[in-house]
Amino acid sequence: MSPIRVGLIGTGYIGMVHLEILRRIVEVEILAVADTNRELAGRAAAKLGIPRIYPSADDLIADREIDVVHNCAPNNVHFDINAKAIRAGKQVLSEKPLSLDSKESAALVALAAEHDALTAVNFCYRYYPVVQEAAARVRRGDLGEVRAFMGHFLQDWLFYDTDYSWRLDPEVAGGANVIADLGSHWCDLVQFITGRTITEVMAELHTCLPRRRKPKSGPLSFSSQKVAEYEDVEVKLDDYASMFLRLDNGARGNFTTCQAAAGRKVDIELQIFGSKESYAWSHVHPNALWIGHRDRGNEMFYESAALQTADTQKYAALPTGHPMGYHDAVFNLFRDYYEALGAKRAGKPYQVRFPDFATGHTEMCVIDAAVESNKTGRWVKVGR
Ligand SMILES: NC(=O)c1ccc[n+]([C@@H]2O[C@H](COP(=O)([O-])OP(=O)(O)OC[C@H]3O[C@@H](n4cnc5c(N)ncnc54)[C@H](O)[C@@H]3O)[C@@H](O)[C@H]2O)c1
Repeated sequence: MSPIRVGLIGTGYIGMVHLEILRRIVEVEILAVADTNRELAGRAAAKLGIPRIYPSADDLIADREIDVVHNCAPNNVHFDINAKAIRAGKQVLSEKPLSLDSKESAALVALAAEHDALTAVNFCYRYYPVVQEAAARVRRGDLGEVRAFMGHFLQDWLFYDTDYSWRLDPEVAGGANVIADLGSHWCDLVQFITGRTITEVMAELHTCLPRRRKPKSGPLSFSSQKVAEYEDVEVKLDDYASMFLRLDNGARGNFTTCQAAAGRKVDIELQIFGSKESYAWSHVHPNALWIGHRDRGNEMFYESAALQTADTQKYAALPTGHPMGYHDAVFNLFRDYYEALGAKRAGKPYQVRFPDFATGHTEMCVIDAAVESNKTGRWVKVGR
């Protein structure tokens, strides 16, 4: 069968991660990149030998030879790019958060169904092997009924007032910053592992640094590039947020996130307490799953192709003891997506094991509810 031809839009931080990982998917040929910053797109194409460079998303989407669009542009153009790509008959793998709000994400789910587009959203943290293992054990009944859960997602790249990102600008990021940027990943982990739905939230969003000095020429996300000139700006979006959460079975949880927590880099933690046992996972030690018991010794389970449950062994691809990392988690997601797409193209049955636009919409509904709760100071039911 002919290769699946991919075009990628947005060659910034995560766009380059996608491009590196796409090279590991044998069925794929990366045909084109597009970025409004032509220099960046040109650099990515030269580095990875990509033949076509487009100055805009529209130009790339108009290329009839492209089968799949990877959308790695900032949040404010997710809806537009995803919708245009679907209407042009493409399959779409989009970055998170799926859109600026849940109205947009609901429209994208409907559009994908109408055009029979296979979609995915890059909630990559669920693809660490032991996170998949935890979810499989929950499905098997090991956890029992989930009773409570808690955790955090902390970073420090917005610690100084000279740190700035489009993520702080509501025009580009949407109605929220950190609760959408990091909270969407954490809520995806909770819903994926427990198999439950978040139904109600009570949230407080806060801006630790309400004034920042914005570089006059914008560096890319997470760049260490030195900047010479700044302008003072008022920051309207959150760099800290806390939420109380309720699941559809009545389980209670809480979550805190912050991008100004000095020393915390990508510090994700999730603890889940069930009626039979407990799980804890930390991205600081991503290869281990803690399993807690009341009546016998606790366990530390390490990722292992030999020891994981049968349907998650493929995610621990290396011989036991060789740690998998962030790139491997993204690879695991892409591989599930492209396996399904290969089957779809061949007219064979396939399973959507990966987060798709419906998943992305679910997370947008939680974010919208959190923004609403912060405004009203009340519990808010999560829409659908
Ligand atoms: N899944 C993850 O773990 C993860 C990690 C980082 C970022 N992201 C998401 O990826 C997206 C991009 O984030 P980033 O950190 O790579 O940002 P970035 O600023 O580093 O890169 C964005 C790129 O998009 C380009 N761009 C902007 N508008 C465009 C347009 N209309 N058409 C084409 N290109 C355009 C910019 O020039 C830039 O090169 C965001 O939505 C973010 O939430 C996800």
